[in-house]
Amino acid sequence: MSTPLSQASQGDGEIRTETTGSIGWLIVDNQPKRNALSLAMWRALPAALSRLDDDEAVRLIVLTGAGGRSFVAGADISEFAETRSTAEKAKAYDAINVAAFEALKTAVKPTVAMIRGHCLGGGLGLALACDLRLAATGAVFGIPAARLGIAYPLAAIADIVQASSASVAKRMLFTAERVTAEDALRLGLVDELTEPGDLEARTEALGKTIAANAPLTLRAAKRAVNAVAAGARPEAMAEAAAAGQTCFESADFKEGRNAFLEKRNPVFTGR
Ligand code: COA
Repeated sequence: MSTPLSQASQGDGEIRTETTGSIGWLIVDNQPKRNALSLAMWRALPAALSRLDDDEAVRLIVLTGAGGRSFVAGADISEFAETRSTAEKAKAYDAINVAAFEALKTAVKPTVAMIRGHCLGGGLGLALACDLRLAATGAVFGIPAARLGIAYPLAAIADIVQASSASVAKRMLFTAERVTAEDALRLGLVDELTEPGDLEARTEALGKTIAANAPLTLRAAKRAVNAVAAGARPEAMAEAAAAGQTCFESADFKEGRNAFLEKRNPVFTGR
């Protein structure tokens, strides 16, 4: 692809969106700081994501870092003396981080983190808030919180425990050591590893497979898996069940049945 990911960063960093075919790209762009997120970028992420989620042409959202060198090197530490200077401010900062994680989890469309290079701190939190993770060899993962004397957001800790295990989460948090891409695959932190040169093509191929499937089924599946993973609370389970019911009343269900019987590929519209 002629890639929007290699464009130069503008000013102090930004969250950009691009679309190519049915993929909506959500790009963290702060290349001089290895794509660290400033508070303004954390704040901007949910609205940028929502633009892609609302775009009918987009079937899958890919979160990635600009420039090909880093995914996200965490939150912008140079702002911490101001943005996290008291427990009260830190709580407000945390809430903004968590809102970004929640936005990815509750996006109607499937989200995929495409990871090259540094995936640290809040960057790992963002990756784990996505539905799926593809990484390139050479990527490095870690949670430097204990080296900085800050607490890692609870929501992001929950995601590591869920993706991997309590002891993996504790080891990463206690040691603040880097985990290689191969180990991240083994530990369940990423779903697939490719060579760096193949990462974009592999992501696009996965995107194409997902984009060809029925959007209402994907939406119902995402809600159901999230509801179960979050502890199967009754309201969340009821919402997921309702999303499942919608599939059976959809034009796409008719299209899926007809396409099977007519031995052709279905063309779904999300209705
Ligand atoms: N916040 C603010 N600035 C950051 C940053 C972050 N999270 N991560 C990198 N940068 C800045 C560096 O300060 C440096 O700025 P400078 O050019 O003005 O000196 C620039 O990005 C390049 O970083 P550098 O350390 O020189 O590059 P590197 O390739 O040797 O190492 C990292 C890259 C990401 C491994 C290293 O910068 C790092 O450890 N960053 C901190 C990661 C972190 O602790 N994240 C969690 C935050 S809660």
